[in-house]
Amino acid sequence: MVFSKKDHLVGLDIGSSSIKVAELQISRNKKILKKFGMKSLAPGAIVEGRIMDMEAVAKTIRDLLRSQKIRKKDVAISTGGHSVVIKTINTAKMPEKDIQESIVAEAEQYIPYDIGDVNIDYQILGESQFSPDQMNVLLVAVKKDLVAEYMDLTASAGLNAKIIDVDTFALQNIYETVPGQDPKDVTLLLDIGASKTSLNILKGGTSVMMRDNDSGTHQIIEQICSRFETDLPEAEKILQGLVENVPDPEAVALILDDIANIWCSEICEVVNTFQSNTNDTRVTKVVLSGGGAYIPGFAHTLGSELSAEVGTISPFDGLHLDEKKFSAAFTSRVGPQAPIALGLALRRVDDK
Ligand SMILES: Nc1ncnc2c1ncn2[C@@H]1O[C@H](COP(=O)(O)OP(=O)(O)OP(=O)(O)O)[C@@H](O)[C@H]1O
Ligand SMILES: [Mg+2]
Repeated sequence: MVFSKKDHLVGLDIGSSSIKVAELQISRNKKILKKFGMKSLAPGAIVEGRIMDMEAVAKTIRDLLRSQKIRKKDVAISTGGHSVVIKTINTAKMPEKDIQESIVAEAEQYIPYDIGDVNIDYQILGESQFSPDQMNVLLVAVKKDLVAEYMDLTASAGLNAKIIDVDTFALQNIYETVPGQDPKDVTLLLDIGASKTSLNILKGGTSVMMRDNDSGTHQIIEQICSRFETDLPEAEKILQGLVENVPDPEAVALILDDIANIWCSEICEVVNTFQSNTNDTRVTKVVLSGGGAYIPGFAHTLGSELSAEVGTISPFDGLHLDEKKFSAAFTSRVGPQAPIALGLALRRVDDK
């Protein structure tokens, strides 16, 4: 089947630090990058995934789409963090027509919220490794008030959110398009954003463990603010190396090391627990994304701790692009922050 251009949605990644937007043109054997852009949000406009200043975020989205000359209104967005629960459950095989009801009934025990307060979605992953009468089902529950908040936001920005995906799934979708993967690798996709971290371990292309936590570059920003008695925007600039003559560069380096070590121990704990529960599975490769991927030395430390190859995602590598419009310097600079928007831009209007 050849997809028509208009079937694809604009991918809009609403991060707590910046908004990213991407548009692709997809045919059977080609994915062409048409648009990609990012715009910073005012600090405090989104906190822990909740929208605190709807008008400021909507305006940032409108300005970004205008500057990119994106006129399409149908978008795919995503959520992550606390208000999203993802679990793989094991349940009896049953006829298609009974699945929805049974999964919703079973979901209750796995979700820390009132079942009436969440939207539930699921995907059958296949037969259970433990019994031919059982199947593995991926369960996704998202709080209804969060969905409503993001629908309101996109409406205020003049857009229609046709799909609300999960950050981790969008990341996995674009990662699958990146060439040069070894099917034998057990790969940890690790996105360290401004306010949250997500871990997703892939084996044979299938997710075998997903986990979120609250770590992120916000920890670095807070320490820079208190060490240099500066405000958030200035601390962001110091982090990004945009301030010349920082009074005490060694102090910045120490903060970065300190936080990178904290991240490392948290990640190693999750990976080690996973490895000891699945005694034959070792993570062999880590693919970093998000702002955390820019922290010098972090990849090296993590690689030595896990005895795994650690690299940064190159999410544009599976796409065709015009190098006059998107230079190699640009795609390599924004690469770590781009994958979720690109993964969302792979989605079609009639996807589930
Ligand atoms: N070149 C750079 N060097 C160091 N840090 C950088 C660089 N570029 C961006 N960052 C930092 O990365 C962080 C933003 O990362 P990212 O875009 O992944 O966050 P987000 O997606 O908006 O947040 P979240 O997904 O957690 O809501 C900011 O703190 C920003 O200062
Ligand atoms: Mg993010």
